[in-house]
Amino acid sequence: MSDLATRPAAPVVGRSHPHESAAGHVTGEALYTDDIAQRTAYALTAWPVASPHAHARVLRLDTEAALRIPGVVRVLTSADVPAVNDAGIKGDEPLFPEVAQFVGHAVAWVLGEDEDAARAGAAAVEVEWEVLPSLVSVDDAIAAGSFQGVVRTVRRGDPDVALTNAPHVFEGVTAFEGQEHFYLETQAALAFVDEGGQLFVHSSTQHPTEAQEIVAHVLGLSSNDVTVQVARMGGGFGGKEMQSHGYAAIAAIGTLLTGRPVRLRLSRALDLVMTGKRHGFHISWRVGFDDDGRILALKAVLTSDGGWCLDMSEPVMARALCHVDNAYFIPNIEAVGRIAKSNKTSQTAFRGFGGPQGMLLIEDVLGRSAPLLGLDPEELRRRNFYVDGQTTPYGMPVRHAHRIERIWREVGERSDFAARRAEVDAFNARHDDRKRGLAITPVKFGISFNLVAFNQAGALVHVYKDGSVLINHGGTEMGQGLNTKMIQVAATALGVPYDSVRLAPTRTDKVPNTSATAASSGADLNGGAVKNACEQIIERIADVAGGMLGVQGRDVRISDGVVRALGIPDRELTFAEVVGEAYRRRIQLWAAGFYRTEGLHWDANTMSGEPFKYFACGAAVTEVEVDGYTGATSTRRVDIVHDVGDSLSPMIDIGQIEGAYVQGLGWLTLEDLRWDESDGPGRGRLLTSSASTYKLPSFSEMPVEFNVHLLQDAAEEGAVYGSKAVGEPPFMLAFSAREALRDAVAAYGPVGYSVELASPATPEALYWAIDRARAAADGGPGDADPSSASPSVTTADDAPGAHPSTSGSGSTRTTGLPSPVALAVDPVDD
Ligand code: MTE
Ligand code: MOS
Repeated sequence: MSDLATRPAAPVVGRSHPHESAAGHVTGEALYTDDIAQRTAYALTAWPVASPHAHARVLRLDTEAALRIPGVVRVLTSADVPAVNDAGIKGDEPLFPEVAQFVGHAVAWVLGEDEDAARAGAAAVEVEWEVLPSLVSVDDAIAAGSFQGVVRTVRRGDPDVALTNAPHVFEGVTAFEGQEHFYLETQAALAFVDEGGQLFVHSSTQHPTEAQEIVAHVLGLSSNDVTVQVARMGGGFGGKEMQSHGYAAIAAIGTLLTGRPVRLRLSRALDLVMTGKRHGFHISWRVGFDDDGRILALKAVLTSDGGWCLDMSEPVMARALCHVDNAYFIPNIEAVGRIAKSNKTSQTAFRGFGGPQGMLLIEDVLGRSAPLLGLDPEELRRRNFYVDGQTTPYGMPVRHAHRIERIWREVGERSDFAARRAEVDAFNARHDDRKRGLAITPVKFGISFNLVAFNQAGALVHVYKDGSVLINHGGTEMGQGLNTKMIQVAATALGVPYDSVRLAPTRTDKVPNTSATAASSGADLNGGAVKNACEQIIERIADVAGGMLGVQGRDVRISDGVVRALGIPDRELTFAEVVGEAYRRRIQLWAAGFYRTEGLHWDANTMSGEPFKYFACGAAVTEVEVDGYTGATSTRRVDIVHDVGDSLSPMIDIGQIEGAYVQGLGWLTLEDLRWDESDGPGRGRLLTSSASTYKLPSFSEMPVEFNVHLLQDAAEEGAVYGSKAVGEPPFMLAFSAREALRDAVAAYGPVGYSVELASPATPEALYWAIDRARAAADGGPGDADPSSASPSVTTADDAPGAHPSTSGSGSTRTTGLPSPVALAVDPVDD
């Protein structure tokens, strides 16, 4: 039976429930990993000895002075590693490095009676460094040929021939920085050891099973020696999918060696400099269009800045390459992805997992090309949408492609796009120094892990004799509402009220071999497993209830904790009565559930297959206003229509969509990671290492009007109760804000002006873009832009060595660095 057929008449899924910890979040009663540490007697605190250099060899490390400090108990160094000195899964991530690879890299950890002692001890450890040459930008790394991991290519058709024959060809460079996760709870772990050598580790991690495996690996233990528990995280956003494991391992070594509990919690300042971020990318591209604006071909080389080690850079790049198309059919394509190696934090998963970076390319290409083609951007986008029957560049059919068009139409109507387009144009005609911009962009995002094996999940559901229910599942709660949804799924599948289900912390000894809670598939996968466990229990107790009611088990209906038989409406039993009777008859009242996503296949070498169960789609319309003197912006209105299938929990889903949009807005318009690229003593330092220098979205950046609508009648056959994943896809709705800014800047320029925007499009970047637009309107070149983050603009005619164009419009543009645009790469050795 399909999920849709089993959806009961009055399901608990589909109702708006507050987040199951909402009250705890706002009162401060919700416990996070370090709150548990604070309640733990005799716990030691760990503090790192961090490298002040971007790249430097440890010549001598002297702990004597540190050990003389009162309260310092022990200094952990590489000599203390019981088995393997590596905290990653690629073997390139030494836990205690001999050579520090970035500013902030920990080379030793001090254990103190309290944080003050540990910090004082860390300051007293003497390290003699041999400073080595360092690469601290992606351009440096490209120039030096410094790469890591495999090069992957998505290819279809013959882009070279198609580009040669295309009537309109444009090329350019799209370069942008990464993003700091800025989860409210920093990285944290707390480890215990018992008398038998069993380790118990609380970790703020999205991936408890991998934490367990890495702790076991570093300590030379088996997985059954280590239990990892996650109560909840104060945000993860991908930053705790892998980056958390090294801290769990340090706490575990500490507890093993001292016998005392060890807590580790990074301060905000340490978390900012030590942990990996979203990958920045450098992308060179060439695109060809026909006379109607249909994309004929795209060639692109995507270089991500992986930082000092691989961690998840390869799968992040794979997802980037699988999302270069976004919602658009590209018949001929070659997209090459390679990973630079630099002396920075190891860049990692971040909401969208490369998808946003791949999609930024095509949205930038379309936003820049539209005026050169003489088309409105919304028309150019719509003309290139997938239609039913087409496949992605990696060979996956785009099922329900017409849904993109439907969403587009709906958000266009809800936002009153056409009328507001005219209003914005009229406003701009009246104002010289303030301009408004309006844009609409689509999202199509693939749901499932590209690696097929990860698409499985488990759950453990207990029904107690009194009818109360306790569920465990393999996913982790990071604020996204997974636990709320899992309670709703269990309540629905068992036919009991929401309040009779309780959720236990995620633990590797309850549900083993789990995947990271990531790729937005937490609810799909764990929901499938919870539902499966509940259905096993219901099948068993239905016969008991049938016996009590005098009917066949299949005629029993359970809803809201009341058990009835079809056709006998006046006889009722409570769920607890039935469960009690089932216990007396020695019926098993608990079950382990399992789920795997069927129908997936993927060849990582050829980058082809059907890696996704379905696509999550949406579209957004954003209106902005940009001040012509300062570049200051305001987001006047946002309208979103997003497809979550039949929502499991509408209020949670709307919260996810709003939060994701604003986080995307932050990445694209505010959050400006800067690293010290000078040759001075600060080289490689993160300059934006606090909330005062790293601008995050806050209330003042919220859209004045924010309308989020869930697409109705959108049940997804085969996913849990017809729902679709929601966590990441709406992040990319924020492209509409970037395109609206481009539209506003264009209004300062001449008709048909193609705006190049730096990313993030900060007020500073907008200021310079407006300056160039005004200069173009005046027929001059504009002032030189002193900011290296903002691309300078040259036309093909005056760019030395720029690639000649076959453009029908005669207006090819190149930006930024190496010219000509390089579209071939050498294979990279691992
Ligand atoms: N929402 C909150 N509040 N906090 C988070 O850390 N992480 C996002 C998204 N939404 C996150 C969040 C990311 S990166 C992912 S992959 C999904 O939630 C993971 O949860 P899910 O699979 O249950 O949707
Ligand atoms: Mo989300 S980046 O997949 O943790």
